Amino acid sequence: MIKFAQPQLDEDTIQAVAGVLRSNWLATGPHVTAFEQALSHSFGGRPTRVVTSATGAIEIALQVCGIGAGDEVITSAQSFFSAMNMIVKVGATPVFVDCDLHTRAIDLAQVEAAITPRTRAIMPTHFPGALGDLDALYALARRHRLRVIEDAALVQGSYWNERPVGGFGDIATFSFHPNKNMTSIEGGAIVVASEDDAALVDLLRFHGIRRLPDDTRDVAVAAGKFNMSDVSAIIGLHQLRQLPAFLAQRAALADRYFQQLPALPGVVAPPRGVARQSWNMFNLLIPYERFGHTRQSFRAALQDRGVGTGMSYEACHQTSVGRGFGYTDGQFPHAERIARETVTLPLHVAMTSADVDLVCAAVAEVLPAQ
Ligand SMILES: Cc1ncc(COP(=O)(O)O)c(C=O)c1O
Repeated sequence: MIKFAQPQLDEDTIQAVAGVLRSNWLATGPHVTAFEQALSHSFGGRPTRVVTSATGAIEIALQVCGIGAGDEVITSAQSFFSAMNMIVKVGATPVFVDCDLHTRAIDLAQVEAAITPRTRAIMPTHFPGALGDLDALYALARRHRLRVIEDAALVQGSYWNERPVGGFGDIATFSFHPNKNMTSIEGGAIVVASEDDAALVDLLRFHGIRRLPDDTRDVAVAAGKFNMSDVSAIIGLHQLRQLPAFLAQRAALADRYFQQLPALPGVVAPPRGVARQSWNMFNLLIPYERFGHTRQSFRAALQDRGVGTGMSYEACHQTSVGRGFGYTDGQFPHAERIARETVTLPLHVAMTSADVDLVCAAVAEVLPAQ
């Protein structure tokens, strides 16, 4: 069975985890600090904090920006649910716009048209293969004095011009879920532009606690608990050291997909050939009916041939929460087509190019040339 995603933990990492377990210091401690320093270095020295998930990082990012009731955040209808959910959770309103069909990047013309006096932030999601125009995004945000929270969960290691995502801009959030480019079991990071914002993250990730001069504690803001354990952090540290090798392997597998996938009518492949992009997922859009399939029957047929697949993503405005804000079908054609047609083929570092060939052969068999 070729799973669609799977983490790779080497023996050194497992031994290091055993060392932390034996040390009796399990919660946030020196390994969290070391992991944050190493991550910060990878983001050009920007202030970086780790938390328990990217979803938690997004919630904290919204709070760092002071976003709450009465505020609007413009976000893409095509994304994982975290952005929408956290906007709603802090009491704000998600304002959806469409995305590009190929890059899935948020449509900046629609963003500009959606800005109102209540708009406080733009929250784009980046996808593997190609980023949207981040210079244009930040120019737009500056013109309208808006904050930007980049959901970069899928693109750790991608570059915009000469800089890594997270290494510039306002706020970027990353995920270390086991399906991502590197893992800490569960976990996430938030990269900010100033030490003031980092100090706010410190409060917001741990009960809002501030130490007073007499060593008692004040609660400065009502906050949740999102601190990472040292067990997760030691895994993250080891994975970060291996990230360049992981990314190279992922890129080689994506290349192999581009070479080996059968040319099929109406099938949309990811953007190809953009320099220095990380490959977390390899998503196709498939008009299943043309091949006598539904997505479910296509995925089941691949599963029968030993190939696991994923689905990224449904359209946020078509979920019950999205519809609760008055959204209906037909408003965002690209996001909706992606939601209908997307399928994620296996891509992870334990795979070989021979595995990619097997997946491609299975796709060709299930979707015969017409
Ligand atoms: C684009 C995107 N954003 C956010 C998340 C949430 O990540 P986490 O599971 O670390 O909360 C995911 C997870 O799949 C994601 O794909």
